[in-house]
Amino acid sequence: MTNQEWINRGQEALMSNYGRFPIALVRGSGSYVWDANNKQYLDMVGGIATCSLGHCPKVVLDVLKEQAQTLWHVSNLYWIPPQIQLAEKLIQASGLDKAYFCNSGAEANEAAIKLARKYFYRRKQAHKTEIIAFENSFHGRTMGALTATGQPKYHEGFGPLVPGFKYVEYNKLPAVEQAITDNTCAIMVEPIQGEGGIRPADLTFLRSLKHICDQAEILLIFDEVQCGIGRTGTLFAYEHYGVKPHIVTLAKGLGSGFPIGAMLTTSQVATGFAPGDHAATFGGNPLATAVASKVMDVVSQEEFLEQVKEKGRLLREGIQKIGDPRVKEIRGRGLLIGVEFTAPVQELISVCMKKGLLLVGAGSNLVRFVPPLTINQVEINQALALFKEALKEWDA
Ligand SMILES: Cc1ncc(COP(=O)(O)O)c(C=O)c1O
Repeated sequence: MTNQEWINRGQEALMSNYGRFPIALVRGSGSYVWDANNKQYLDMVGGIATCSLGHCPKVVLDVLKEQAQTLWHVSNLYWIPPQIQLAEKLIQASGLDKAYFCNSGAEANEAAIKLARKYFYRRKQAHKTEIIAFENSFHGRTMGALTATGQPKYHEGFGPLVPGFKYVEYNKLPAVEQAITDNTCAIMVEPIQGEGGIRPADLTFLRSLKHICDQAEILLIFDEVQCGIGRTGTLFAYEHYGVKPHIVTLAKGLGSGFPIGAMLTTSQVATGFAPGDHAATFGGNPLATAVASKVMDVVSQEEFLEQVKEKGRLLREGIQKIGDPRVKEIRGRGLLIGVEFTAPVQELISVCMKKGLLLVGAGSNLVRFVPPLTINQVEINQALALFKEALKEWDA
Protein backbone atom coordinates (compact mmCIF):
# COMPACT_ATOMS: atom_id res chain seq x y z
CA MET A 1 0.00 0.00 0.00
CA THR A 2 1.31 3.45 -0.93
CA ASN A 3 0.75 6.76 0.86
CA GLN A 4 -1.87 7.70 -1.72
CA GLU A 5 -3.75 4.43 -1.34
CA TRP A 6 -3.91 4.90 2.45
CA ILE A 7 -5.00 8.51 2.03
CA ASN A 8 -7.83 7.46 -0.32
CA ARG A 9 -9.04 4.84 2.13
CA GLY A 10 -8.66 7.23 5.07
CA GLN A 11 -10.70 9.89 3.35
CA GLU A 12 -13.48 7.38 2.83
CA ALA A 13 -13.44 5.82 6.28
CA LEU A 14 -12.41 8.53 8.74
CA MET A 15 -14.09 11.68 9.95
CA SER A 16 -12.42 14.83 8.75
CA ASN A 17 -11.73 16.41 12.14
CA TYR A 18 -7.96 16.42 11.54
CA GLY A 19 -6.03 18.42 8.97
CA ARG A 20 -3.47 15.85 7.82
CA PHE A 21 -0.27 15.98 5.82
CA PRO A 22 -0.31 13.71 2.73
CA ILE A 23 1.75 10.85 4.12
CA ALA A 24 0.82 7.65 5.99
CA LEU A 25 3.35 6.70 8.67
CA VAL A 26 3.85 2.99 9.03
CA ARG A 27 7.01 2.41 11.07
CA GLY A 28 9.26 4.12 13.60
CA SER A 29 12.59 3.57 15.31
CA GLY A 30 14.32 6.02 17.65
CA SER A 31 14.09 9.51 16.17
CA TYR A 32 12.96 8.31 12.72
CA VAL A 33 9.68 7.31 11.10
CA TRP A 34 8.94 5.88 7.65
CA ASP A 35 5.95 6.44 5.42
CA ALA A 36 4.10 3.89 3.31
CA ASN A 37 6.33 4.74 0.31
CA ASN A 38 9.33 3.84 2.51
CA LYS A 39 10.57 7.43 2.76
CA GLN A 40 12.44 8.15 5.97
CA TYR A 41 11.81 11.23 8.14
CA LEU A 42 13.67 12.70 11.08
CA ASP A 43 10.83 13.20 13.52
CA MET A 44 10.97 16.50 15.40
CA VAL A 45 7.27 16.14 16.23
CA GLY A 46 7.43 12.93 18.25
CA GLY A 47 3.65 12.55 18.34
CA ILE A 48 3.61 16.22 19.48
CA ALA A 49 5.92 16.11 22.48
CA THR A 50 4.75 12.60 23.33
CA CYS A 51 7.26 9.95 22.20
CA SER A 52 9.69 10.99 24.93
CA LEU A 53 11.96 7.96 24.48
CA GLY A 54 11.63 7.83 20.70
CA HIS A 55 9.79 5.30 18.59
CA CYS A 56 9.59 1.69 19.82
CA PRO A 57 12.28 2.15 22.53
CA LYS A 58 13.73 -1.22 23.50
CA VAL A 59 13.67 -0.59 27.28
CA VAL A 60 9.95 0.12 27.18
CA LEU A 61 9.19 -2.53 24.60
CA ASP A 62 10.61 -5.20 26.91
CA VAL A 63 8.34 -4.07 29.75
CA LEU A 64 5.35 -3.83 27.43
CA LYS A 65 5.90 -7.38 26.14
CA GLU A 66 6.32 -8.77 29.62
CA GLN A 67 3.24 -7.00 30.96
CA ALA A 68 1.25 -8.03 27.87
CA GLN A 69 1.98 -11.64 28.76
CA THR A 70 1.03 -11.10 32.41
CA LEU A 71 -2.04 -8.88 32.78
CA TRP A 72 -3.54 -6.28 30.44
CA HIS A 73 -6.53 -4.93 32.19
CA VAL A 74 -8.41 -5.27 35.44
CA SER A 75 -10.85 -2.86 37.00
CA ASN A 76 -9.96 -0.26 39.58
CA LEU A 77 -12.28 -2.26 41.82
CA TYR A 78 -8.98 -4.00 42.69
CA TRP A 79 -5.48 -2.85 43.63
CA ILE A 80 -3.15 -2.79 40.62
CA PRO A 81 0.56 -3.19 41.50
CA PRO A 82 2.09 -1.39 38.45
CA GLN A 83 -0.30 1.51 39.11
CA ILE A 84 0.85 1.73 42.72
CA GLN A 85 4.51 1.60 41.66
CA LEU A 86 4.03 4.39 39.13
CA ALA A 87 2.16 6.50 41.70
CA GLU A 88 5.03 6.05 44.16
CA LYS A 89 7.56 7.21 41.56
CA LEU A 90 5.51 10.25 40.56
CA ILE A 91 4.75 11.43 44.07
CA GLN A 92 8.34 10.94 45.13
CA ALA A 93 9.59 12.98 42.19
CA SER A 94 6.94 15.71 42.36
CA GLY A 95 6.83 16.37 46.09
CA LEU A 96 3.08 15.84 45.93
CA ASP A 97 1.30 13.07 47.81
CA LYS A 98 -1.37 11.30 45.76
CA ALA A 99 -1.91 10.19 42.16
CA TYR A 100 -4.94 9.53 39.97
CA PHE A 101 -4.61 7.95 36.53
CA CYS A 102 -6.59 8.36 33.33
CA ASN A 103 -5.91 8.14 29.59
CA SER A 104 -5.20 11.59 28.18
CA GLY A 105 -4.35 15.19 28.92
CA ALA A 106 -7.93 16.37 28.59
CA GLU A 107 -9.08 13.69 31.01
CA ALA A 108 -6.39 14.67 33.52
CA ASN A 109 -7.55 18.29 33.33
CA GLU A 110 -11.17 17.22 33.61
CA ALA A 111 -10.24 15.38 36.81
CA ALA A 112 -8.42 18.47 38.13
CA ILE A 113 -11.43 20.71 37.50
CA LYS A 114 -13.76 18.25 39.21
CA LEU A 115 -11.38 17.76 42.14
CA ALA A 116 -11.05 21.51 42.74
CA ARG A 117 -14.81 21.95 42.90
CA LYS A 118 -15.47 18.86 45.00
CA TYR A 119 -12.69 19.74 47.43
CA PHE A 120 -14.42 22.99 48.40
CA TYR A 121 -17.84 21.36 48.31
CA ARG A 122 -16.68 18.83 50.90
CA ARG A 123 -15.27 21.67 53.01
CA LYS A 124 -18.72 23.28 53.11
CA GLN A 125 -17.63 26.02 50.71
CA ALA A 126 -19.83 24.91 47.84
CA HIS A 127 -19.95 28.47 46.47
CA LYS A 128 -16.29 28.16 45.43
CA THR A 129 -16.73 26.90 41.87
CA GLU A 130 -15.06 29.51 39.66
CA ILE A 131 -11.90 28.70 37.77
CA ILE A 132 -9.54 31.28 36.36
CA ALA A 133 -7.80 30.23 33.16
CA PHE A 134 -5.63 32.11 30.68
CA GLU A 135 -5.93 33.56 27.22
CA ASN A 136 -4.14 31.47 24.61
CA SER A 137 -4.10 28.42 26.87
CA PHE A 138 -4.84 24.89 25.70
CA HIS A 139 -6.19 22.23 28.05
CA GLY A 140 -7.91 19.69 25.77
CA ARG A 141 -11.14 18.96 23.92
CA THR A 142 -13.57 17.50 26.46
CA MET A 143 -16.17 20.01 27.62
CA GLY A 144 -14.46 21.05 30.87
CA ALA A 145 -10.96 21.14 29.43
CA LEU A 146 -12.28 22.85 26.29
CA THR A 147 -14.00 25.51 28.37
CA ALA A 148 -10.77 26.07 30.32
CA THR A 149 -8.98 26.57 27.00
CA GLY A 150 -8.74 30.31 26.49
CA GLN A 151 -8.95 30.36 22.70
CA PRO A 152 -12.32 31.27 21.16
CA LYS A 153 -11.54 29.38 17.92
CA TYR A 154 -11.78 26.07 19.81
CA HIS A 155 -15.09 27.04 21.47
CA GLU A 156 -16.97 28.06 18.36
CA GLY A 157 -20.11 26.03 17.80
CA PHE A 158 -19.72 23.90 20.93
CA GLY A 159 -21.74 26.03 23.32
CA PRO A 160 -23.15 26.11 25.87
CA LEU A 161 -19.79 25.69 27.57
CA VAL A 162 -19.29 24.73 31.22
CA PRO A 163 -20.23 27.63 33.50
CA GLY A 164 -17.82 29.19 35.97
CA PHE A 165 -14.69 29.92 33.90
CA LYS A 166 -12.93 33.27 33.47
CA TYR A 167 -10.01 34.06 31.17
CA VAL A 168 -7.31 36.56 31.90
CA GLU A 169 -4.15 37.65 30.13
CA TYR A 170 -1.17 35.33 30.65
CA ASN A 171 1.78 36.71 32.60
CA LYS A 172 -0.31 39.67 33.84
CA LEU A 173 -0.73 39.49 37.60
CA PRO A 174 -3.09 42.47 38.07
CA ALA A 175 -5.56 40.80 35.68
CA VAL A 176 -5.58 37.68 37.86
CA GLU A 177 -5.99 39.70 41.04
CA GLN A 178 -8.96 41.51 39.55
CA ALA A 179 -10.60 38.27 38.45
CA ILE A 180 -10.45 36.60 41.88
CA THR A 181 -13.64 36.61 43.92
CA ASP A 182 -14.80 34.76 47.01
CA ASN A 183 -16.13 32.11 44.59
CA THR A 184 -12.78 31.32 42.98
CA CYS A 185 -11.74 27.71 43.61
CA ALA A 186 -8.77 27.33 41.27
CA ILE A 187 -6.35 28.95 38.88
CA MET A 188 -5.38 26.70 35.99
CA VAL A 189 -2.20 27.49 34.11
CA GLU A 190 0.43 25.96 31.83
CA PRO A 191 3.91 26.86 33.17
CA ILE A 192 4.84 27.02 29.49
CA GLN A 193 1.95 27.52 27.10
CA GLY A 194 2.36 24.88 24.39
CA GLU A 195 -0.34 25.05 21.72
CA GLY A 196 -0.65 28.78 22.44
CA GLY A 197 2.84 29.33 20.99
CA ILE A 198 5.54 28.03 23.39
CA ARG A 199 5.25 30.92 25.84
CA PRO A 200 6.95 30.40 29.19
CA ALA A 201 5.41 31.98 32.28
CA ASP A 202 7.53 34.71 33.85
CA LEU A 203 9.30 33.69 37.03
CA THR A 204 7.65 36.34 39.17
CA PHE A 205 4.24 35.66 37.63
CA LEU A 206 4.18 31.98 38.55
CA ARG A 207 5.64 32.62 42.00
CA SER A 208 3.12 35.36 42.67
CA LEU A 209 0.27 33.10 41.52
CA LYS A 210 1.28 30.58 44.17
CA HIS A 211 1.45 33.31 46.79
CA ILE A 212 -1.98 34.64 45.85
CA CYS A 213 -3.45 31.13 45.90
CA ASP A 214 -2.01 30.39 49.33
CA GLN A 215 -3.33 33.68 50.72
CA ALA A 216 -6.82 33.35 49.26
CA GLU A 217 -7.32 29.59 49.69
CA ILE A 218 -7.38 28.92 45.97
CA LEU A 219 -5.97 25.80 44.34
CA LEU A 220 -3.18 26.28 41.84
CA ILE A 221 -3.41 23.76 38.99
CA PHE A 222 -0.44 23.37 36.66
CA ASP A 223 -1.19 21.75 33.32
CA GLU A 224 2.10 20.02 32.49
CA VAL A 225 0.58 17.77 29.85
CA GLN A 226 2.97 19.16 27.23
CA CYS A 227 5.81 20.68 29.28
CA GLY A 228 6.14 17.93 31.92
CA ILE A 229 8.03 14.62 32.17
CA GLY A 230 11.48 15.88 31.33
CA ARG A 231 10.55 17.90 28.25
CA THR A 232 12.13 21.12 29.56
CA GLY A 233 15.19 19.51 31.17
CA THR A 234 13.62 19.09 34.61
CA LEU A 235 11.11 16.36 35.33
CA PHE A 236 8.42 18.97 36.00
CA ALA A 237 8.56 22.40 34.37
CA TYR A 238 7.57 23.99 37.69
CA GLU A 239 10.96 23.02 39.09
CA HIS A 240 12.48 25.87 37.03
CA TYR A 241 10.31 28.25 39.00
CA GLY A 242 10.69 26.81 42.49
CA VAL A 243 6.90 26.74 42.77
CA LYS A 244 4.92 23.64 43.68
CA PRO A 245 1.25 23.54 42.61
CA HIS A 246 -1.62 21.97 44.56
CA ILE A 247 -2.48 19.90 41.50
CA VAL A 248 -0.45 18.99 38.42
CA THR A 249 -1.75 17.23 35.32
CA LEU A 250 0.36 15.05 33.03
CA ALA A 251 -0.08 12.92 29.89
CA LYS A 252 1.80 13.01 26.54
CA GLY A 253 5.41 12.08 27.45
CA LEU A 254 4.42 9.99 30.47
CA GLY A 255 3.78 6.88 28.38
CA SER A 256 6.21 7.77 25.57
CA GLY A 257 3.34 7.19 23.17
CA PHE A 258 1.35 4.67 25.17
CA PRO A 259 -1.89 6.43 26.20
CA ILE A 260 -1.90 7.52 29.84
CA GLY A 261 -2.76 10.65 31.80
CA ALA A 262 -2.26 11.49 35.46
CA MET A 263 -3.19 14.00 38.09
CA LEU A 264 -1.05 14.49 41.19
CA THR A 265 -2.08 16.43 44.24
CA THR A 266 -1.51 17.01 47.95
CA SER A 267 -2.94 14.74 50.66
CA GLN A 268 -5.22 17.55 51.74
CA VAL A 269 -6.68 18.33 48.31
CA ALA A 270 -6.98 14.60 47.57
CA THR A 271 -9.63 14.43 50.31
CA GLY A 272 -11.94 16.09 47.76
CA PHE A 273 -12.52 12.73 46.11
CA ALA A 274 -14.23 9.90 47.99
CA PRO A 275 -14.91 6.45 46.49
CA GLY A 276 -17.26 6.83 43.54
CA ASP A 277 -16.58 10.55 42.96
CA HIS A 278 -14.48 10.07 39.85
CA ALA A 279 -13.33 7.14 37.72
CA ALA A 280 -12.14 5.91 34.34
CA THR A 281 -12.45 2.29 33.21
CA PHE A 282 -9.02 2.21 31.60
CA GLY A 283 -7.38 4.68 34.00
CA GLY A 284 -4.10 3.33 35.36
CA ASN A 285 -4.48 -0.10 33.81
CA PRO A 286 -1.57 -2.55 34.17
CA LEU A 287 -0.25 -2.11 30.62
CA ALA A 288 -0.21 1.68 30.64
CA THR A 289 1.21 2.01 34.12
CA ALA A 290 3.92 -0.62 33.62
CA VAL A 291 5.05 1.28 30.52
CA ALA A 292 4.92 4.70 32.20
CA SER A 293 6.79 3.34 35.19
CA LYS A 294 9.68 2.40 32.91
CA VAL A 295 9.53 5.77 31.18
CA MET A 296 9.77 7.42 34.60
CA ASP A 297 12.82 5.34 35.50
CA VAL A 298 14.60 6.70 32.44
CA VAL A 299 13.48 10.32 32.28
CA SER A 300 13.85 11.07 35.97
CA GLN A 301 17.58 10.31 35.98
CA GLU A 302 19.61 13.46 36.59
CA GLU A 303 22.01 12.65 33.76
CA PHE A 304 19.15 12.18 31.28
CA LEU A 305 17.64 15.52 32.26
CA GLU A 306 21.00 17.28 31.95
CA GLN A 307 21.28 15.89 28.43
CA VAL A 308 17.84 17.26 27.55
CA LYS A 309 19.00 20.71 28.64
CA GLU A 310 22.20 20.38 26.61
CA LYS A 311 20.41 19.10 23.49
CA GLY A 312 17.90 21.92 23.79
CA ARG A 313 20.75 24.40 23.96
CA LEU A 314 22.42 22.88 20.87
CA LEU A 315 19.21 22.94 18.87
CA ARG A 316 18.36 26.48 19.87
CA GLU A 317 21.83 27.81 19.16
CA GLY A 318 21.87 25.97 15.84
CA ILE A 319 18.59 27.58 14.78
CA GLN A 320 19.89 30.96 15.84
CA LYS A 321 23.10 30.41 13.89
CA ILE A 322 21.20 29.77 10.66
CA GLY A 323 20.43 33.48 10.93
CA ASP A 324 17.24 33.53 8.86
CA PRO A 325 15.97 37.13 8.83
CA ARG A 326 12.36 35.94 8.99
CA VAL A 327 12.89 34.49 12.48
CA LYS A 328 11.23 36.83 14.97
CA GLU A 329 11.90 34.96 18.20
CA ILE A 330 13.03 31.58 19.51
CA ARG A 331 11.27 30.59 22.74
CA GLY A 332 11.02 27.66 25.12
CA ARG A 333 13.11 25.47 27.37
CA GLY A 334 14.90 22.18 26.91
CA LEU A 335 13.41 20.29 23.97
CA LEU A 336 10.23 22.35 23.90
CA ILE A 337 11.27 24.97 21.36
CA GLY A 338 9.17 27.36 19.32
CA VAL A 339 10.52 29.42 16.44
CA GLU A 340 8.30 32.35 15.58
CA PHE A 341 8.51 33.72 12.05
CA THR A 342 7.27 36.92 10.47
CA ALA A 343 5.05 34.89 8.09
CA PRO A 344 2.72 31.86 8.24
CA VAL A 345 4.73 28.62 8.42
CA GLN A 346 2.41 26.01 6.88
CA GLU A 347 4.38 26.04 3.64
CA LEU A 348 7.73 25.87 5.48
CA ILE A 349 6.53 22.77 7.33
CA SER A 350 5.58 21.19 3.98
CA VAL A 351 9.00 21.98 2.48
CA CYS A 352 10.67 20.42 5.56
CA MET A 353 8.53 17.32 5.15
CA LYS A 354 9.56 16.93 1.53
CA LYS A 355 13.17 17.09 2.70
CA GLY A 356 12.56 14.39 5.30
CA LEU A 357 12.11 16.53 8.41
CA LEU A 358 8.87 16.48 10.39
CA LEU A 359 7.91 19.64 12.29
CA VAL A 360 4.68 20.87 13.82
CA GLY A 361 3.22 24.36 14.04
CA ALA A 362 1.54 26.12 16.96
CA GLY A 363 -0.52 29.02 15.72
CA SER A 364 0.05 30.35 12.21
CA ASN A 365 3.60 31.74 12.48
CA LEU A 366 5.34 29.36 14.86
CA VAL A 367 7.22 26.12 14.21
CA ARG A 368 7.71 23.73 17.12
CA PHE A 369 10.68 21.44 17.69
CA VAL A 370 9.51 18.78 20.17
CA PRO A 371 11.58 15.69 19.25
CA PRO A 372 12.11 12.56 21.30
CA LEU A 373 14.16 13.45 24.39
CA THR A 374 16.52 10.66 23.30
CA ILE A 375 17.51 12.45 20.09
CA ASN A 376 21.31 12.52 19.70
CA GLN A 377 23.73 15.18 18.55
CA VAL A 378 24.15 13.73 15.05
CA GLU A 379 20.38 13.79 14.59
CA ILE A 380 20.17 17.35 15.91
CA ASN A 381 22.79 18.42 13.36
CA GLN A 382 20.90 16.61 10.63
CA ALA A 383 17.68 18.39 11.65
CA LEU A 384 19.46 21.74 11.56
CA ALA A 385 20.93 21.05 8.12
CA LEU A 386 17.54 20.03 6.71
CA PHE A 387 15.86 23.03 8.32
CA LYS A 388 18.46 25.35 6.82
CA GLU A 389 17.93 23.87 3.35
CA ALA A 390 14.18 24.17 3.70
CA LEU A 391 14.46 27.81 4.79
CA LYS A 392 16.47 28.52 1.63
CA GLU A 393 13.65 27.10 -0.48
CA TRP A 394 10.85 28.64 1.52
CA ASP A 395 9.38 31.49 -0.40
CA ALA A 396 7.89 33.79 2.24
C1 LIG B 1 -1.04 21.70 27.77
C2 LIG B 1 -1.98 20.69 27.24
N1 LIG B 1 -3.00 20.27 28.01
C3 LIG B 1 -3.87 19.35 27.57
C4 LIG B 1 -3.77 18.80 26.31
C5 LIG B 1 -4.75 17.78 25.85
O1 LIG B 1 -4.16 16.53 25.86
P1 LIG B 1 -4.86 15.29 25.11
O2 LIG B 1 -4.80 15.59 23.64
O3 LIG B 1 -4.05 14.11 25.52
O4 LIG B 1 -6.26 15.23 25.61
C6 LIG B 1 -2.72 19.20 25.48
C7 LIG B 1 -2.59 18.65 24.12
O5 LIG B 1 -1.95 19.18 23.26
C8 LIG B 1 -1.81 20.18 25.94
O6 LIG B 1 -0.80 20.60 25.17
